[in-house]
Amino acid sequence: VSAVQRAADAFAAGEPVLVHDAADREGEVDLIYPARSVGPAAVARMRNDAGGLICVALSHEVAETFDLPFLADEIDHPAAEADHLGYDERSSFSLTVNHRDTYTGVTDEDRSTTITALGHAAADPEHTDFADEFRAPGHVHVLRAAPELLDEREGHTELGIALADAAGREPAVVVCEMLDDETGEALSVDDARAYAERHGFAYVEGRDLVAELA
Ligand code: 5RP
Ligand code: CA
Ligand code: ZN
Repeated sequence: VSAVQRAADAFAAGEPVLVHDAADREGEVDLIYPARSVGPAAVARMRNDAGGLICVALSHEVAETFDLPFLADEIDHPAAEADHLGYDERSSFSLTVNHRDTYTGVTDEDRSTTITALGHAAADPEHTDFADEFRAPGHVHVLRAAPELLDEREGHTELGIALADAAGREPAVVVCEMLDDETGEALSVDDARAYAERHGFAYVEGRDLVAELA
């Protein structure tokens, strides 16, 4: 079984997968879950073991249905004028949101409520009134995948949505960067692989996802 198939099987079962984008891109490993499978314990794992920003990536089609913009296009401030990333053409950030049933929005319970609701919304976008269910700003970053997915961009946003497609899951995935507690830098590939091994999680290289799924 290929690493991609193992990752898709794990994802189909609601388990997390570790995905390295590329050494010549961000050079980061994200911990990625199907949004609907994220309970409070998974949020705790992301902030304690991963440590990066907790974001929900949505497919282009779902983001369009919900009229979710790219944040950089919406901010009327000089800081948003040129989105110079260094490693990609554009950032995939859209709005930040909280589910309207949350209180502060940041607790493990609140963030898992927002994240799973985004998963349900993505599974049935036509029957979702986005603004009725979510408010912005909030504590979960929404990311928008590129329209042509991996043919257009090879970020964790697109890698995660491609993995969801391959697993037959709705196009909504949580991503969070694995950081190194000692150095504060991105966790190395070796350490991320060891973490995956320790916890029985699948690990996959972005280039393998691109080769098999694009
Ligand atoms: C949000 C990010 C992460 O890198 C995340 O992986 C999404 O970005 P990209 O699609 O560019 O990899 O910046 O925390
Ligand atoms: Ca940590
Ligand atoms: Zn990334």
